[in-house]
Amino acid sequence: MSFLEPAGVFDREPAPGLKIIESGKNAGTGSYVPETIWKNEDLEKMVETSDIWIRERTGIGARHIAGEETVAQMAVKAARRALENAGICSTELDLILVGTSSSESIFPNTACLVQDEIGAFRAACLDVSAACTGFLAVYELGQLYIRSGKAKNVLLIGADALSRLVDWHDRGTCILFGDGAGAIVLTAEEQETKACEKIHSDGEKGVSLTCEKGTYLQMDGRAVFQFALSRVPEVIREVLKEAEVPVEEIDAFILHQANSRIIDGVAKRLKAPKEKFPRNIEAYGNTCAASIPILLDEWNRSGRAQKGQRIVLSGFGAGLIWGAAYLEW
Ligand code: ACO
Repeated sequence: MSFLEPAGVFDREPAPGLKIIESGKNAGTGSYVPETIWKNEDLEKMVETSDIWIRERTGIGARHIAGEETVAQMAVKAARRALENAGICSTELDLILVGTSSSESIFPNTACLVQDEIGAFRAACLDVSAACTGFLAVYELGQLYIRSGKAKNVLLIGADALSRLVDWHDRGTCILFGDGAGAIVLTAEEQETKACEKIHSDGEKGVSLTCEKGTYLQMDGRAVFQFALSRVPEVIREVLKEAEVPVEEIDAFILHQANSRIIDGVAKRLKAPKEKFPRNIEAYGNTCAASIPILLDEWNRSGRAQKGQRIVLSGFGAGLIWGAAYLEW
């Protein structure tokens, strides 16, 4: 069915309490990280720190650094891989949304740069600035476009190069971040569904994580840590309550990769086994809006993704903004 045509007659009855509507189903994933790797040992030569301190406090062992490569170039590589994985041509895309806070140009936006490179001439192209919650934000918007009937095929990208925004003399922040991009393609499918995405914001607390133009990222690490530990389990419970799915039935919690101790703390608060929280923070650090789609892509390509799996995505970051989504693979 074309996205321009009215919804047809559904061929099955929904389960009690559910309705069947067109909703976005994950059709393919892709990701890209730059070739240059800076290990913790490399950072030992730049600031007073140690591999042991970084690993123990964050779980990070290395990060990929973009160098000359732009956010849009990384986004294009992730996008091409996602389209190939989904078996969808760029000309079939109705919408491209990019979550990013570190694009080199103020305009044109990254989504338009991606559109131009991949030839997605039919797509509307928008960027969303929501820091590390950027991918969650574009995921929710992509779903809303599909559910409203305005789009059938949507490309969602999270891409960031925070290595350009951190002060490489500040050991309190520079050890945390890395660069990369991840993408997924959502396609409209008639399915039993409920509204299962939530984004929250608290501008009053924004001061704990800031980056003004021409300056470096400033962070109150402990405040951000405490905020994540309280808000992430809360918003996950909120979406699961709305989806009427108990925590125990979730197969995987794909969380923003900011700090391994935060992920452990969320698992503990949800009383869920740590094994259900896949992580790649050791290899990439915190890639901001890219972390969730990169992890989703690894989940998909490693064969761990199975049809029907119940997945939770959750992210948090500057704003302050946090959110979660429930989806079935
Ligand atoms: N190497 C060695 N020592 C360090 C380093 C380092 N890289 N950084 C800080 N220290 C020292 C501090 O100076 C302090 O020393 P002191 O006790 O002598 O004063 C000591 O280690 C403890 O410092 P804390 O800041 O209390 O360390 P903490 O355990 O809180 O870990 C960290 C710091 C890793 C930053 C943690 O607070 C954290 O991960 N917070 C969350 C940050 C985050 O996720 N930010 C991204 C959000 S997403 C976005 O939108 C961008």
